[in-house]
Amino acid sequence: MGIIPACSGCPSPQKCGKGGICGKGRITMCHGSLGNARREALAILSASLVGVGASIGLAQTRQYPVFTPDHLNSAMKTVGLAFNLVGHSIEKHDPELAKDYLARARDQLATTITFWRDRKVEEAIALLRDNLKKMDALDTAMSVDKDKVDMRAVAELSRQVSASCEACHARYREQDPISKEYRVKSELLKP
Ligand code: HEC
Repeated sequence: MGIIPACSGCPSPQKCGKGGICGKGRITMCHGSLGNARREALAILSASLVGVGASIGLAQTRQYPVFTPDHLNSAMKTVGLAFNLVGHSIEKHDPELAKDYLARARDQLATTITFWRDRKVEEAIALLRDNLKKMDALDTAMSVDKDKVDMRAVAELSRQVSASCEACHARYREQDPISKEYRVKSELLKP
């Protein structure tokens, strides 16, 4: 292949190969190689979905906590990756691709309801449902002929989804000051 194209949003573009995969497993879009970026990003997303699915299955057969904080963490990482790609695709005026990524983000986010149900956190369930509704509104706005998509409305709906993600994060997420890792607030980690 030729020269590696510049990447948008990649912290270390020199590492960003044709698949658009940056250091630390981040996936970004490379200009001029959307096809490759898309295929590989989707492959990675699917692989991580299988991973989460398989470990949840295992936990269930052992009658262990069905949806552990680790499951939540990997599900959220996938939601984050996929939703990030939704944003990139919208910026690039590619609603079709954005819809693809959105479906993956939505699927993965929807599974996390189990975490909150197991712990009977009704408020989080409400925040999650609200988020899924906003994703559906975004999906609907992009589900028209490409030349009829109102990209400004789409961008606004996408911002509303992000705001809804943030509402839950502000309430239930904390960041380790040293490792910078995100975790669910410690009050929810108690057995
Ligand atoms: C109902 C609550 C809730 C909603 C809604 C929610 N999140 Fe999260 N999210 C969490 C919690 C709790 C954590 C911390 C858990 C963890 O990362 O271990 C988290 C962590 C994350 C992380 C950090 C993962 C990591 O460890 O690097 C990302 C990225 C993320 N969320 C993205 C999103 C996006 C994007 C949306 C919206 C499309 C969203 N989340 C919606 C609760 C939520």
